[in-house]
Amino acid sequence: MPVRRIPRSPSAGTPPPKPSASARHAARTLDALDFAEDLRKSHDELAGRVSELATANRDLAFAQEARARLVSTIAHELNTALTPVAMELHLLREAGLEGLDPRQRHAVEVIGKGTDRLRLLVRDLADASRLHSGALRVRPAALAVADVAREALDAVEAPAREAGVEVLLEVEPGLRVRADPHRVHQVLLNLLTNAIKFTPRGGRVRVKAQTSGAMVRIGVHDTGAGIAAEDQMRLFQPFAQVHEEARERGSGLGLYICRGIVEQHGGRMGCESAGPGQGAMFWFTLPRDVAATTEPLHRTGAGPAA
Ligand SMILES: Nc1ncnc2c1ncn2[C@@H]1O[C@H](COP(=O)(O)OP(=O)(O)OP(=O)(O)O)[C@@H](O)[C@H]1O
Ligand SMILES: [Mg+2]
Repeated sequence: MPVRRIPRSPSAGTPPPKPSASARHAARTLDALDFAEDLRKSHDELAGRVSELATANRDLAFAQEARARLVSTIAHELNTALTPVAMELHLLREAGLEGLDPRQRHAVEVIGKGTDRLRLLVRDLADASRLHSGALRVRPAALAVADVAREALDAVEAPAREAGVEVLLEVEPGLRVRADPHRVHQVLLNLLTNAIKFTPRGGRVRVKAQTSGAMVRIGVHDTGAGIAAEDQMRLFQPFAQVHEEARERGSGLGLYICRGIVEQHGGRMGCESAGPGQGAMFWFTLPRDVAATTEPLHRTGAGPAA
């Protein structure tokens, strides 16, 4: 029987034979092929993800478009229904309410308040839809910041008194901006309404304004509920609301529209808060009017009844 030769295994201490140059080349080629295969797989995976992302983006754009169309339709339909109600109410008030008994007068008052709220909602829905389509226009004019701030302060005097929140104005009287007076009033009114809404009884709201280069920076400071850092940017998205416990629930469009209005003037808007319970400060900038001067600080206030 022939004797089988068993190949000798390399024993410890004996170095393995060195691979030949062609073996090394073959190994390198195999590595390169593996790498190319991994690369191809990663590329296919990435291409799959890119296509998923493109589909998700298309769906999102479609949903946003559908929402904008819905908002625009609701605004239009509400306006159509509301216009004759507002006109009839106006005629009723013009005719005088003396002939009505207290119950009927109360009913007219309730209808009036409801109509006012609905008109504001319709305005906000229409503005949001204009912002989305890029159709929101502003008509800038020379404007004294103290005047527009005073008007906004007057408009919130009653609700501030009712809420027990003190509202103060600290604005340089000579400060002037180039901005649309109605739109700036709308921005200030929303910021003040928000500040009062989220500030507990005994708290304070202050409107400050100062020059900042070519702009004027206006800030509404409050001592209220504050905002967590992670929520601060979200607030400027349409319908974003982060406080369940608001005194009066709005639509969540206010800040979105305010920022749109400010940006339409070439300004910026943001908010600062050290966190929940620490108060908040909403600020915006508007282009300074060339005739701007600086006079001493002017302090006036609208305070709570008590
Ligand atoms: N001063 C503030 N302090 C704390 N939270 C605020 C303040 N201002 C705004 N917020 C938060 O931002 C949210 C969005 O404000 P926004 O003005 O856009 O909507 P809204 O006041 O809820 O409704 P509306 O459309 O009537 O203005 C508020 O619901 C609240 O959660
Ligand atoms: Mg608001």
